Amino acid sequence: MLNPRLETEIARPPACIPVSPAKVVPDIIDDAREGLLFPPRSLPPKYFYDEKGSQLFTKICETDEYYPTRTEDGLLARNAGNIIAISRPAQIIELGSGNSGKTRRLFNACEQIDHTCSYAPFDVCAPMLEDTAGQLQTEYEWLKVTPLLGDYHAGLDHLPGFNERRLFVFLGSTIGNFKPAEARAFIREITDAMAPGDYLLLGIDRVKDVQVLNDAYNDSGGMTAAFNLNLLNVLNRELDADFDLSHFNHHASYQSRHSRVEMKLVCDTLHEIQLKKIDEVIELYPGDEILTELSHKFTYGQAEELLSDCGLDIVSHYEPENRYFSVILARF
Ligand code: AVJ
Repeated sequence: MLNPRLETEIARPPACIPVSPAKVVPDIIDDAREGLLFPPRSLPPKYFYDEKGSQLFTKICETDEYYPTRTEDGLLARNAGNIIAISRPAQIIELGSGNSGKTRRLFNACEQIDHTCSYAPFDVCAPMLEDTAGQLQTEYEWLKVTPLLGDYHAGLDHLPGFNERRLFVFLGSTIGNFKPAEARAFIREITDAMAPGDYLLLGIDRVKDVQVLNDAYNDSGGMTAAFNLNLLNVLNRELDADFDLSHFNHHASYQSRHSRVEMKLVCDTLHEIQLKKIDEVIELYPGDEILTELSHKFTYGQAEELLSDCGLDIVSHYEPENRYFSVILARF
């Protein structure tokens, strides 16, 4: 006889499995003390993504100028069949899965060839993770969704193990937000969690025409500017601070020396800011800046080197005709 309790459990969205941090990561208080009090001032880009910031990021992705998201999605749409046919994963595990938008391309490809697998989206944002897991479970009945709740900056040592083939997915060129040495260290954390024969699917943004890059981070609708400035709202809330947003301007420009877009908030006046939560006051002068994001762009050669340094063999490389973006499938 069917257990009625079991039935209601099946209808419910899959429960999130908490992944405990593997190392101590500074919180916004630590990062503000470390990065805001003295020049050169900077903050890690992860604090952009409060609810408002996540919405603004979605809007950035819809602008004409911000090509990465739609380019990567196009590559996945065209090549998902090939990616699944090669990697044949028993599980797809995605780091920083967000709303799993682009990953649906992979599930669609599974459906096409009757390949079944499980999906472990790993994300720090509980409401979005739960929501997405529930939706996916309804959209793809055959897909066993096991959402993992945690912060990948806190290390990957405590990801649940799995004894069949896994496809690790890290999209959006988020790898570009790390400095080169950190990027290597992070890919190594991934390979430490991998078994031989597992695959990594990595999205990376490429070095290209400077104007295209600068436009992508200076959209005419001002979405990127709003996204950048929203960081000050986050600080005002989290640090009980009083940044006046009207005194800051969004700056983003490609620095070819470092192959990266540097995004900053530049103060245009003499501005004293109270950071009540940490009992500090900072004084900014006209032209003083806070570095808010580095977004590294790669040549294909640099991407190759990054992966091979970490013991990964490239199996396929997908790029559009204009070579704006790469999706790389590599085997451990
Ligand atoms: C998704 C984090 C890779 O660096 O291009 C978009 C974030 N910042 N516009 C990027 C972002 C400004 C984006 N990443």
